[in-house]
Amino acid sequence: LAAIEIDISSIATGQAIKTMWRKQPVFIRNLTPKEIQEADAVPVASLRDPATLAERTKEGHKNWLITLGVCTHLGCVPLGAGEGETRGEYGGYFCPCHGSVYDTAARIRKGPAPLNLQVPEYSFKSDTVVQIG
Ligand code: FES
Repeated sequence: LAAIEIDISSIATGQAIKTMWRKQPVFIRNLTPKEIQEADAVPVASLRDPATLAERTKEGHKNWLITLGVCTHLGCVPLGAGEGETRGEYGGYFCPCHGSVYDTAARIRKGPAPLNLQVPEYSFKSDTVVQIG
């Protein structure tokens, strides 16, 4: 299946957009320094699905959080990228279907979802172009 290239130059700090890849929503988010700090301040061992923000982003591009926009509970599209910007109490994403709450590294923090939002295979073609897939 085809890879896609996305120009991320117009995504402002603090903004998240939603795009589609392989018929699934993908969230691309430009984290603020505060959101990065919040993610890094969490003791990893306390997490349901332990992972650091650094492990979920690319070296030198820690502010770019790219995940599937598919809740790991039953597959709803969480809120927080685009319209409304309802990001939940951990500042990441919020799934309105059954109340799963993700943090600023899109890690599951509360609610029924078992796993973090999945990070797809992707790479930076340049500082402003990302290839997903
Ligand atoms: Fe997201 Fe159930 S599908 S909480």
